[in-house]
Amino acid sequence: MLTFLDALQGQLRAAMERAFPEAGQQASEAERPFDPQLASASRPEFGDFQANGALALARPLGLPPRTIAKAIVEQLADDPAFGELCEPPQIAGPGFINLTLRPERLAGEVARRLADPRLGVPTVPGPSGNSAPAPVVVDFSSPNIAKEMHVGHLRSTIIGDALARVLEFRGHPVLRLNHVGDWGTQFGMLITHLKQVAPEALTTADAIDLGDLVAFYRQAKARFDADAAFQATAREEVVKLQSGDPISRRAWQLLCEQSRREFQQIYDRLDIRLSERGESFYNPLLEGVVADLEGLGLLVTDDGAGCVFLEGVKGKDGQPLPLIVRKSDGGFNYATTDLAALRYRFAAPPAGDGAGRLIYVTDAGQASHFAAVFQVARRAGWVPVGRRLEHVPFGLVQGDDGKKLKTRSGDTVRLKDLLDEAVERAEADLRRRLAEEERTEAESFIRHAATTVGIAAVKYADLSTNRSTNYQFSFDRMLALNGNTAPYLLYAVVRIAGIVRKGGAQLDPAAGASGPALPGVLHFSEPQEWALVRELLKFDAVIAEVEEELLPNRLCSYLFELSQVFNRFYDQVPVLKADEPARSSRLALSRFTAATLKLGLGLLGIPTLERM
Ligand code: ARG
Repeated sequence: MLTFLDALQGQLRAAMERAFPEAGQQASEAERPFDPQLASASRPEFGDFQANGALALARPLGLPPRTIAKAIVEQLADDPAFGELCEPPQIAGPGFINLTLRPERLAGEVARRLADPRLGVPTVPGPSGNSAPAPVVVDFSSPNIAKEMHVGHLRSTIIGDALARVLEFRGHPVLRLNHVGDWGTQFGMLITHLKQVAPEALTTADAIDLGDLVAFYRQAKARFDADAAFQATAREEVVKLQSGDPISRRAWQLLCEQSRREFQQIYDRLDIRLSERGESFYNPLLEGVVADLEGLGLLVTDDGAGCVFLEGVKGKDGQPLPLIVRKSDGGFNYATTDLAALRYRFAAPPAGDGAGRLIYVTDAGQASHFAAVFQVARRAGWVPVGRRLEHVPFGLVQGDDGKKLKTRSGDTVRLKDLLDEAVERAEADLRRRLAEEERTEAESFIRHAATTVGIAAVKYADLSTNRSTNYQFSFDRMLALNGNTAPYLLYAVVRIAGIVRKGGAQLDPAAGASGPALPGVLHFSEPQEWALVRELLKFDAVIAEVEEELLPNRLCSYLFELSQVFNRFYDQVPVLKADEPARSSRLALSRFTAATLKLGLGLLGIPTLERM
């Protein structure tokens, strides 16, 4: 409905200006005296939109709001473009103007979108002149080398990918960056320990697997914490690595490759594309970051550490908290790297990415880290005017019991096992259903369907909860065939596509007007049809909202709601048995629904199935 909303916005503003020319002249443009305050109607009986702008004008104009609303409506009546778009407006309550779109305009919009493979979702305005649009950086997934990728990284991966897909669909160039933790003191400990207990791991690829590597890392950390001599050697090892010692470098590379391969298996299963640009990439830039903070007068040395004291962030003792950017041993840390990365991402190419928007997808536990990094970057002048900088936090993954997700034996859940179990359970469900329905299917079909449903269930369960809250992981819930779940929506697509096929209509929206069943003129008469039309036409606004607010659950709720509205329509109105022209029009709505669900799920990273 965005195109209608834009048109109405202009028409209402113009009507307000014509109704009260004096008020417009007094105020400056910046004060925008004539904001129509246009919003979607709060209830269907109020029409499509309501404009509340008359209420805000009551005080400045010294008139009752209903009188103002009347004057605006009179002006609207003189605007032929408005007359073509809307029914005569209604004034309600103290002075709300209720607006209802004309049925022929709604039907025309349905026909237009059906012929458009993008289903009416516009792309962002293209590059002006010959400069390419600024890329959006989505920093997501970002596991750590020699550590297991955990459920927090899984959430980041799934949410980050969905956001990247929506942004890409809108036409933004997106840099999907994997800010892998591939640098720092952990390598000193690990290399020192491995030299003693498993030297082959440092010289031969794949001598140990990631599980072992993680165990070695734990042992190394324990020794580092307990043994001063070990600590000293580990520190020397870090220095060697940083100074480019070839043996240390080679060991480091082997360790990184080992982890990388394991991570890649997860990405492949989830169909996630990422460009790795780990922390080590920014290593050469760290010194400059700290030197520049010093030059700007922002750096304070406190207890030997280089700090920037934060404005408006106080500790328990009421003193401002510092962001440490150089440790007392002279080393740099996570924050230094993030400052360097941020600066690089905004900086103009070729010495940077020239990004217009930076999006960081991590657990909410890192919120204060990012708030601090963003503040320091702003104060240092590294965030150019008009660019956006956003942390996209998400809650913890909890088990069914509301506690941290664990296996039955109390270990942390490995992502591989988690995905395997989702697919196994989906397969068991499918086989049970096939037996009940006395259907026989090829093994290849069963495996493909189970894999698709299992992975979809994991992704959708994560995406459909508001990401800011903690999220309870439950195989039973995510695999249920009823409710706001992936299996339910995948099944809805199969079912609706089946109806369309039976009706002989083309499902492919790209086939457009040349498709055999798209009627020249759509005819709708039943309220259930109009309800579905209105729901379908919301898609563009939902996508715009996700792009703006970075909440994929909005898209999930919409797709679920759409399938419910479709069900009411299909239960209450005959489709295949209807007479023409209703039959074709209803099939067109069915086709539009299936296409919207398919596109929407695709933007969440969920492919659909032909059969289930
Ligand atoms: N490696 C970090 C972790 O596992 C996440 C990195 C997020 N991105 C960033 N630019 N700090 O917690």
